[in-house]
Amino acid sequence: MNKQFEKDLRSENGFCSKEVWCDEKALFTDDSLIIAGHHVMDKWQSNYMRCLAKISSKYGGRILEVGYGMGIAAEFVEMNKNVEQHVIIECHPDVVKKCRSIYRKKIEEAKVVIYEDFWENVTSNFPEGYFDGILFDTYPLSQKEIRKNHFFFFVEAYRLLRKGGVLTYYSDETENFSEIHMAKLREAGFESIDKKMVKVDPPESCAYWESNSILAPIVKK
Ligand SMILES: C[S@@+](CC[C@H](N)C(=O)[O-])C[C@H]1O[C@@H](n2cnc3c(N)ncnc32)[C@H](O)[C@@H]1O
Repeated sequence: MNKQFEKDLRSENGFCSKEVWCDEKALFTDDSLIIAGHHVMDKWQSNYMRCLAKISSKYGGRILEVGYGMGIAAEFVEMNKNVEQHVIIECHPDVVKKCRSIYRKKIEEAKVVIYEDFWENVTSNFPEGYFDGILFDTYPLSQKEIRKNHFFFFVEAYRLLRKGGVLTYYSDETENFSEIHMAKLREAGFESIDKKMVKVDPPESCAYWESNSILAPIVKK
């Protein structure tokens, strides 16, 4: 890649463009997933991921998971015997490779289906009401995505869920929904909006989370 172009792509306050994100190597350690110098996922979130997986797969059937990361939530989704199909969308090639190696047999059987792409390029191919549950946990690649990424997805999640289906997502809130989150969920069409507070124990060195709780949304169509 041309050096100046590469610099421009990286220039937004340390965030990456989609192209640079996918070009960077993903580093998996025992405790973390690091891409382009960002702590994308950490093992201390396991308890929270268990809760998100439980919410999204409560009704079994067909589950959509956006963002595979360390595969922690995916493993919990797979433990639910009522899940008939687990569709995963993940953009990073190394992360997809890892997922493919773990679920090789289930992928052959189409129990697990993985799309290597950004959700923005994939979900319009699914018909309305196709999913019983959705778990959305991506990582913001730009400043713009930090607050807005969920919001873009809410409208699409409403379309993708069957009536009575449930959406959950990584929330950047500790105890209560912010007004803007509530407003955006309602704007998308959701009326049944509930939550669970999950206890977490981030290490002192964690740069992005200090609280000992994270809100797990339970949003039904
Ligand atoms: C926080 S991690 C997901 C962690 C996961 N829930 C777990 O339990 O390990 C976010 C993942 O979303 C992926 N991602 C970021 N933006 C995306 C997008 N627009 N579409 C699909 N995947 C995306 C990243 O490459 C990363 O692997």
